[in-house]
Amino acid sequence: MHNPMVTAPACLIRAALPSDESTWRELWRGYCDFYRARLADEVTHRTWKRILDPDSSVMCVVAEVEGQVVGFANCVVHENTWETQAVCYLEDLFVAPAARGQGIGGALIEWLRNAMRAEGWARLYWMTQADNVEARRLYDRFTQADGFVRYVIRQR
Ligand SMILES: CC(C)(COP(=O)(O)OP(=O)(O)OC[C@H]1O[C@@H](n2cnc3c(N)ncnc32)[C@H](O)[C@@H]1OP(=O)(O)O)[C@@H](O)C(=O)NCCC(=O)NCCS
Repeated sequence: MHNPMVTAPACLIRAALPSDESTWRELWRGYCDFYRARLADEVTHRTWKRILDPDSSVMCVVAEVEGQVVGFANCVVHENTWETQAVCYLEDLFVAPAARGQGIGGALIEWLRNAMRAEGWARLYWMTQADNVEARRLYDRFTQADGFVRYVIRQR
């Protein structure tokens, strides 16, 4: 994985490390609460394991402010049928409530945009709920929503 460190004035963006586990888990809990999702421990355990596994397509970058991790972006890099290069799906983005509105979410996306260029991914993409006003205000600074609508069929 592309691994330069990107620094904004008070914010360092870097790949997640094993020592980030407890903070990442805390933030992940906040993210799941935001979506009112109850995930089995096994899912969280496996996600974290894949984040640390260099052979996995799952990756995570964290935002650190004054030595404290306050946000993360979980991504999946995958093949696709529309380009020859891989693409990066930004699956989860979260900044601790007390750290919001300082450009940290933007810095995480900016880091991924730089990684896209460095890694040769054809695109970086993500989706959000139509009424997530705060997130969309941030996203609209990067690009316009493309109008696709998501359909999901679940096994159960
Ligand atoms: C969406 C999210 C990641 C943004 O993180 P962030 O660090 O606040 O992002 P930024 O500071 O870079 O930009 C946030 C925008 O909201 C504004 N904002 C101001 N005060 C804010 C506050 N207290 N809380 C949130 N946003 C605020 C910012 O000014 C900025 O907009 P602007 O630059 O056009 O003025 C964060 O709000 C979050 O984790 N939300 C809950 C989970 C979520 O919705 N994740 C995305 C799911 S797709």
